Amino acid sequence: MTLLDSNAATTKPLEDPRLKEPFLLTPGPLTTSYAVKQAMLRDWGSWDQDFRDMTLKMRVELLAMIGPGREDFDCVPMQGSGTFSVEAMLGSFVPRDGKALVLANGAYGQRSAQTFAYLGRDHVVLDKGDYLPPRGEEVAKILNDDPAISHVVAIHCETSSGILNPIDEISQATYGAGRKLLIDSMSAFGVIPLEADQIRYEAVVSSANKCIEGVPGFGFIIARKSELLAAKGNSHSLSLDVHAQWDHMNKTGQWRFTPPTHVVAAFLEALHAHQREGGVEGRGARYARNRDVVVSGMRELGFETLLAKRWLSPIIVTFFCPDDPNFEFGKFYDLMKDKGFIIYPGKLTIAESFRIGCIGQMDEHIMRRVVKAAQQTLAEMGVENANPPADALLERAKLDA
Ligand SMILES: Cc1ncc(COP(=O)(O)O)c(C=O)c1O
Repeated sequence: MTLLDSNAATTKPLEDPRLKEPFLLTPGPLTTSYAVKQAMLRDWGSWDQDFRDMTLKMRVELLAMIGPGREDFDCVPMQGSGTFSVEAMLGSFVPRDGKALVLANGAYGQRSAQTFAYLGRDHVVLDKGDYLPPRGEEVAKILNDDPAISHVVAIHCETSSGILNPIDEISQATYGAGRKLLIDSMSAFGVIPLEADQIRYEAVVSSANKCIEGVPGFGFIIARKSELLAAKGNSHSLSLDVHAQWDHMNKTGQWRFTPPTHVVAAFLEALHAHQREGGVEGRGARYARNRDVVVSGMRELGFETLLAKRWLSPIIVTFFCPDDPNFEFGKFYDLMKDKGFIIYPGKLTIAESFRIGCIGQMDEHIMRRVVKAAQQTLAEMGVENANPPADALLERAKLDA
């Protein structure tokens, strides 16, 4: 049995992109279905009742994804990329005299800290470096030592390494100390459960072009209604004021400023595909299978992942670059693209790395083709061994310790 048929196929293959563009093995924008693209072919009046109905439907269906307990929450879509919605959440829910503890283990934690710096709001950062997870007991200690901290900001899946942070223990530590939790679940929402009666939080943010498999153009904030009410007057920004957007949407059914109408139409199509697939559980299972197939296939080629299984998300996986002197990431990227796969550079500072996304219109059959393309590419580059350098493995041992 060869490497590529060692995992028996269990599902009907997804179709390749009809315009023959490469698959995007990236964490959003990602490969979308033809039906999602097709939903953008007609125009909608932003003021018209049909579009208002679409907006309401989308808000209700997104809210349903947090399960029992959702009655206490509401969903507020916000124009722009994911960062706009994170900034909207931070600026609207952390009061001007509040103080945030940002849990950082990668680029997106750092970006939240940077956002507070722009906003001029008091904050401290627990910086765990490139990928080490912030743990509940560390959070509890910081909160105990600093009574001025009102909010904790956590990244659910830190997409820069692919680590799934321990959001459960972070939530317990936060509320155990009587503080409030805000979650950036940009790349995890829709595949990792965040049920309101299981994990306590005040607000969570994600965007259209991640695990729901829509196209880029807006994000959404799901927040406790009591926080939405209390957020009046907090925001530093007119356009990113979550309270104002919520209030206006509830009163008029409309977005405050021009909405990305086509993106919303595509997103509704994507949401219905998510539901047909079995919601968070069904989609999560496909992505986990994608990850398992690509990780085991790449390991057979000699590649190593940054993270051990306990921390590997079904969203994106970081692989160390091989130590072989013939390996050069730029060339590997180009040759993979020639074979129809766009991969993603790594973001680690401690070792050379690259990432392969598991999300989007991708399945295990496609993941096997990715591994085969990597195998051929290594051969073309004259790389005999994809093992990483010894220091990369020493670095990895820190997390296992
Ligand atoms: C965890 C996380 N937060 C924030 C962002 C920023 O989103 P955007 O690039 O859409 O602004 C991303 C993007 O991948 C992300 O993964």
